[in-house]
Amino acid sequence: MEKQIVLTGIKPTGMPHIGNYLGAIKPALALSEKYESRFFIADYHSLNSIKDPAELRGYTYEIAACWLAAGLDPEKVLFYRQSDVPETFELTTMIMAFTSKGLMNRAHAYKAQLDINREKGKPDDHNVNMGLYTYPVLMAADILLFDTNLVPVGKDQVQHIEMAADIAEAVNRNYKEQLLTIPEAYVSESTKTVLGMDGRKMSKSYNNTIPLFLPEKKLKKQLNKIVTNSQEIEEPKDPDTCNVFALYKLFATKEQQDALAERYRAGGMGWGHAKAELFEVMNEVIKPMRDRYDELMVDKSYIDEVLVKGARKARVLAGEKISHMRKVMGVDG
Ligand code: ADP
Ligand code: TRP
Repeated sequence: MEKQIVLTGIKPTGMPHIGNYLGAIKPALALSEKYESRFFIADYHSLNSIKDPAELRGYTYEIAACWLAAGLDPEKVLFYRQSDVPETFELTTMIMAFTSKGLMNRAHAYKAQLDINREKGKPDDHNVNMGLYTYPVLMAADILLFDTNLVPVGKDQVQHIEMAADIAEAVNRNYKEQLLTIPEAYVSESTKTVLGMDGRKMSKSYNNTIPLFLPEKKLKKQLNKIVTNSQEIEEPKDPDTCNVFALYKLFATKEQQDALAERYRAGGMGWGHAKAELFEVMNEVIKPMRDRYDELMVDKSYIDEVLVKGARKARVLAGEKISHMRKVMGVDG
């Protein structure tokens, strides 16, 4: 089998949450054990929503520290910041010429804004900047620039990867060669949609997240706010319809899950107990990573160093790809 290239990016728009970690970061790191991998911080994607420079810079460090604390080894994985690879933006312009406006009309982030506007009786274009509208093209460029085969993401991003594949096919068709590799989404089945505090998909947009590296006390407090029903302590409870148990399953061993499910069904256990059990298993997994995260955020020079090196390596690969593309396209002056 040919060598597979794995690539994924995360927008710096706030500290990653448990959904980002289980849905994207962890599966990506597992793939990086086997395949050549490229992970990056999608800071230009964030610019659509984050307009305060200090805030954007801060979030960028947070995402970098999260990846490193979660186990990314920069000697093995190419790790960089999107804005450090300007070839991305050249490729964006190139593929724009092969992207139909109709395709962008169907993109879910844009459609979600449209729905909000219609609900509120605002014009369709309200709060739609061109960055949001062309978001999937920039994302396609991120992916296609590095000849990516597999893109580990949560379920919500699959549409964007299908669009990147459509765009790549349109380019290849025109030049009658396999100029761009056709990417495929890689969605981890058990964590494709991690549910949040209220049982909906965990998302910054719904304000129902559990941030990955909350200090211990705050994590405990946050878990206590998970929405449960109003059953009394003595009543038997159903683990399969409980938000606390849904999260517990993602961190506990099979034996632990069975034992807690038993306590649910037996009655005599209150929600406070279930939440305390959740804290224990979650904190055990998170604690070593949180300690490393805190260290990295105190002295950011290591992150700076890693990103400078990553940028250098990424630009070599990207430069080769872009000069080849220019030649094939006839823009090599
Ligand atoms: P958010 O929806 O909180 O803004 P992002 O869009 O920044 O999250 O997502 C970053 C990565 O994490 C993407 O690959 C996305 O698919 C994944 N992801 C986000 N939320 C979840 C979730 N609740 N479950 C699984 N994966 C998720
Ligand atoms: N759109 C992705 C998100 O919202 C982030 C992203 C940008 C990305 N470029 C990418 C993900 C390329 C995978 C590959 O989460």
